[in-house]
Amino acid sequence: MKRLKNWDNKTWLSSKSYIFQFNKFLKTKINFNKNSKILDIGCGRANIISALQKKYKFRNKPTGIDIVANKDVKRNIVFKKIEALKYLKKQKKYDLILIKQTIHFFTKTKLKHLLNLSKESLNPKGKILIFSLKTKNNKIPCFKKMRKNLEKSLKKDEVLFKIIKKNLKEISFTNFNFKVNISKQKYVRMIRERYISCLLNMSDKDIKLGISEIKSKYKNQIKFTDTLKCISYRK
Ligand SMILES: C[S@@+](CC[C@H](N)C(=O)[O-])C[C@H]1O[C@@H](n2cnc3c(N)ncnc32)[C@H](O)[C@@H]1O
Repeated sequence: MKRLKNWDNKTWLSSKSYIFQFNKFLKTKINFNKNSKILDIGCGRANIISALQKKYKFRNKPTGIDIVANKDVKRNIVFKKIEALKYLKKQKKYDLILIKQTIHFFTKTKLKHLLNLSKESLNPKGKILIFSLKTKNNKIPCFKKMRKNLEKSLKKDEVLFKIIKKNLKEISFTNFNFKVNISKQKYVRMIRERYISCLLNMSDKDIKLGISEIKSKYKNQIKFTDTLKCISYRK
């Protein structure tokens, strides 16, 4: 698969309001304190852990890892360009391991390794939080071919959820909902920049056709709820 670069590049996922609401949600799961040690796997531009660092001023800056080093990764965290499994083998310990919208990049076997290594990398009472798009009745605005690719990827996610359930055993499920209100013009730019992995392998022609479909299908302002399933595991 080609590499994903524009996921959080000036999209709602990097907006102040999204990060604020997401971190408020995290607070309902974790009692952060100055000594909390945090690892964000597949951190992108590290917007989430950067905002956490600003708020809590942790003694140890959160670590964000990703296989892509974007130019504008946040600087108040420790960023490492490294593959997740390779990093986890270093066996450092964390109180929170965040894996947000990243599991779909893993094969079943690699996901099992990711889970096992993550469990081993937790401090006592540490938590793993996995966030992933909800698989049923997902509201992300799509053109036909994009919807087909997305549904295929969500089906694969369901298989991955089963693996997670089996591997982590004692887990709880909740949802994080964010109400998106975006101009059609901005959303078209996101599609052009292939913001989501189901667009990565499409031809330029498909993207162009898809954009005209979106232009005729939606009003000037696009509103929908972006829902993530949150899987929570505690050691
Ligand atoms: C959809 S983005 C999510 C970014 C961020 N977590 C967020 O929610 O805004 C997924 C990220 O996972 C990264 N990624 C994919 N496979 C990875 C791997 N094996 N190890 C580390 N990062 C990976 C991608 O490069 C991408 O930045």
